[in-house]
Amino acid sequence: MYKCFIFDIDGVLCDSEDISISIGVEFFKSIGVQVSKEDFLRHLGMGEIEFFTGVATDYNLHSYSYQRASDYFKRRYISIIKDQDISLGNARDFIKNAKSIGIKVAIASSAPRWKCEANLDAIGIKRDDVDLILSGEDVKRNKPFGDIYSLAMISLGIDKKEAIIFEDSEGGIKAAKEAGGFTLGLATTLSSEKLFSLGCDGAVSSLSAIPLFTSQEDANEFFTELFSPYKGRVRYGANLITPRVRRNLDERLYNQAIKEAWLAYNKAYAPYSKFKVGAAIVSASSGRIYSGCNVENSSYGATICAERNALTTAITNEGVVGVEAIFIVSDDDPPAPPCAICRQVLSEFSNPDTKVVLISKKRREEYRFSEILPHPFLFPTSR
Ligand code: THU
Repeated sequence: MYKCFIFDIDGVLCDSEDISISIGVEFFKSIGVQVSKEDFLRHLGMGEIEFFTGVATDYNLHSYSYQRASDYFKRRYISIIKDQDISLGNARDFIKNAKSIGIKVAIASSAPRWKCEANLDAIGIKRDDVDLILSGEDVKRNKPFGDIYSLAMISLGIDKKEAIIFEDSEGGIKAAKEAGGFTLGLATTLSSEKLFSLGCDGAVSSLSAIPLFTSQEDANEFFTELFSPYKGRVRYGANLITPRVRRNLDERLYNQAIKEAWLAYNKAYAPYSKFKVGAAIVSASSGRIYSGCNVENSSYGATICAERNALTTAITNEGVVGVEAIFIVSDDDPPAPPCAICRQVLSEFSNPDTKVVLISKKRREEYRFSEILPHPFLFPTSR
């Protein structure tokens, strides 16, 4: 029985990894060194010293001062999150729900204490909402060592077989594995594929892909299913899919999908409305693109929208699909969003992080699926 959830913060509860990395790039620029965002990826999740000194070492920077970097970081970070909603998924509700069904909740982040507190404050999690908060300052050996997670379990009297650790970064996953808890990867920073290759027991796109639970038994059932027989799968609406596509679609695939959406648009059968629509769906498991156009009918209500046409084409070719992204093109400006029927139909095969890209000849708007349909209906037995 799972009795305890242990959460990393950055990239799990808070959408803050990008902010941290941007400040990192900015700091090195301020001392005259051009580094890239990717340089930070393998140093993420293991505390601030590793974050800065790891990159400085990669670049052979002998004159670099960690203290200066740390001061710079703190000042910029606090000022940026003041004006930005950094809550990731439904972090606060998820934690409150876990507590309400009697699951112990611990926070274990390798960040300095000030950052843990600033992050939790920013997303509305109070000290009393959780059972334990550990920062990188509470252990001598930070992640990738498992000490912080072991300490959390020992402090709460939890056996590793009863704990689920929520992680997003390579160093953090190593720490979770070393401590021995079940490791659930969140594909907020790395792809699901990468999370599995690092040894995660399960992967979801974000906390909002996990339902709220009515009881500990309910939670137990959900995670048992997620961890064992379906290992490697990610929930897309009513279906568990093994994703092969990077969450951040590479540019080639992105552009190809847009091209195919415009090709479909050219074929639209819209003699009545004269409103042509094209759509292209990227399948999560194959990375293949399926397009569709709107097909109108003399009996207007029998019209099929481009989005549903693309989706049914995808399923006809592959069977059940997970929609990693959908691109919708039209002449409308601002670009036309999918109608409510299409949103509901897409929700059966999409997850909160599915990309929805709306395109006109003039502009492009990008949304997460959860923004265009926050509360999709899914049949109770398939959630
Ligand atoms: N249409 C779509 O193809 N997708 C949508 O989500 C909205 C509407 C089409 C259907 C019809 O052929 C035309 O736009 C006007 O309603």
